[in-house]
Amino acid sequence: MNLKQLVIASRNPHKIQEMQQILQPLGIEVLSTQDFAELEEVVEDKETLQGNALKKARYVASETGLPALSDDTGLEVEALDGAPGVYSARYAGKNASYQDNVDKLLVELKNATTRKAQFRTVVALVNGAEEFTFEGVCKGEIITEKRGSGGFGYDPVFRPDGYEKTFAELDSETKNKISHRGRAIQKFVEFLG
Ligand code: IMP
Repeated sequence: MNLKQLVIASRNPHKIQEMQQILQPLGIEVLSTQDFAELEEVVEDKETLQGNALKKARYVASETGLPALSDDTGLEVEALDGAPGVYSARYAGKNASYQDNVDKLLVELKNATTRKAQFRTVVALVNGAEEFTFEGVCKGEIITEKRGSGGFGYDPVFRPDGYEKTFAELDSETKNKISHRGRAIQKFVEFLG
């Protein structure tokens, strides 16, 4: 597929920056929801990451007439039977901050016998009537207290397997190489050929 322009269906500056860093070298002009003032917030009310990712990309593609790429991510914690999963953004309540969510997670895991967790991202591409999804997973563990100031969301408490540092301590290039989102976008890049 030959794409000249792409709109990232997100208002999250961290996500946009991570995706742009990977896509820019391909010679694709990467826009985002922020470049289209008329676009509204998409309510993420589906029960799966794929459902939410497709909903966001479909809306942005139909409103802009351009190919749209979205992502939906969840943190799946083994001791919590896969929670917070698709509800990761609202784990501590409707208007929870990153800090609220991380604090709640640490409390929930206080007496856990395993701290294994994984991030899962589904990236959706909608280009006219064509729809494709790409999945990326990054396994690791939730550490007992926050470390680092980079990244966003649950990054300060997530240590990917094979690394001593948390995502918030790793530089963005390393995070992109091994992260759930990085891996999902890499699959998208391979798909483009
Ligand atoms: P969503 O994909 O924007 O719905 O993200 C769900 C939740 O996971 C939000 O609370 C995000 O902060 C968090 N999240 C998404 N991607 C990452 C990441 O790469 N690192 C840490 N947290 C993330």
